[in-house]
Amino acid sequence: MKVPLFDMTRQYEQLKQEILRIVDEVLQSGRLIMGPNVEAFEREVASYLGVKHAIAVANGSDALYIAAKAVGIKENDFVITTGFSFFATASCITRNGATPIFVDVDPVSFNIDLDQVEQLLRTHPQRDKVKALIPVHLFGRTVDLERLERIRRDFGVKLIEDCAQSIGSIWYFSDGVIKKSGSIGDVSILSFFPTKNLGAYGDGGMILTNSDSIADFCRIFRVHGARKKYFHEIEGVNSRLDELQAAILRVKLKYLDDYHRKRIDVAKTYNELLGPLSPRFIDIPTVHDDFRCIFHQYVIRVKNGQRDSLKDFLKEKGIETAIYYPLGLHKQKCFSRFGVQSLKNTESLSEEVLALPIFPEISNQEVAYVAESIKKYFKEAIEC
Ligand SMILES: Cc1ncc(COP(=O)(O)O)c(C=O)c1O
Repeated sequence: MKVPLFDMTRQYEQLKQEILRIVDEVLQSGRLIMGPNVEAFEREVASYLGVKHAIAVANGSDALYIAAKAVGIKENDFVITTGFSFFATASCITRNGATPIFVDVDPVSFNIDLDQVEQLLRTHPQRDKVKALIPVHLFGRTVDLERLERIRRDFGVKLIEDCAQSIGSIWYFSDGVIKKSGSIGDVSILSFFPTKNLGAYGDGGMILTNSDSIADFCRIFRVHGARKKYFHEIEGVNSRLDELQAAILRVKLKYLDDYHRKRIDVAKTYNELLGPLSPRFIDIPTVHDDFRCIFHQYVIRVKNGQRDSLKDFLKEKGIETAIYYPLGLHKQKCFSRFGVQSLKNTESLSEEVLALPIFPEISNQEVAYVAESIKKYFKEAIEC
């Protein structure tokens, strides 16, 4: 059996009539850039997440770059972020001329270790230059939003939530309030890269904020810094979501919670089937019934140096897997000018993580086959 890591064509089959109808409507309208679908999509996402403003841009990386600029990140500033994330989380800092400070992650949630963040904010020799914190809700698992709010308040740093992988994930506050990731940041971002839980048929991204002035800056910045065409207030960029993508994303947004639920069901099934291998051979993620993690990825930790050979074994069985991420951000060559640093958990994770196939349309048989194959691998490993 062949099991892909991700398969977009199955979702397309289900949505084909709706998608083709809306694509035809957009093409017939002749309005392809910054039209009614982009505006409606911005309103719908803002309402879905509980934020005041949503500003659509060309991709999540641009969203981060513009978001960091919008909160005033510039040369000589320091910005704290996780060592274990996609490149764009850090490049938005350096592209704005600032210096990243990479912090290690919690070995269970894979999210930035907030104890270490607080410690750093207390002891950093140039504390007054540490301007912002960029947490990433990695693989769809929400970072403690209550604590993030406290850190922002106590240390006076700007909060930029990287929600590229976490649209719709939630956090329970101690007073019973539930908030979604992306709703508390001074500014937050989404990515609509095709493999994301809400994926476009191309690139797309979004900036979220409750601040009128930040929203205003981002709206102008994405269109060359011009409020009025050909009159440029700031040196902006061209970073727009197009009407076709917005129209397609509006169709998919209606089903997003169902997609999340299916992913959570898949994660639960994996956990049931792989449970007997944990903790001796692998670690499996915590699964809840609600959206505390929306399982953008289902990632196991493979122990005893077996990760790469398990990956090869699964490939032979027709099962596609992936390694997010094989090298921490603090170790990337392009960031070597910031000095050599060691992040213990990030480095272990880079050697141990393995993402298994997960998407809403994956069948029970496929999930069972993946789990059986993993069990088979360890059975054979023991027998040798
Ligand atoms: C955590 C994280 N941040 C930022 C991005 C950048 O998004 P995009 O690919 O839309 O530029 C991604 C996308 O892969 C991501 O996973």
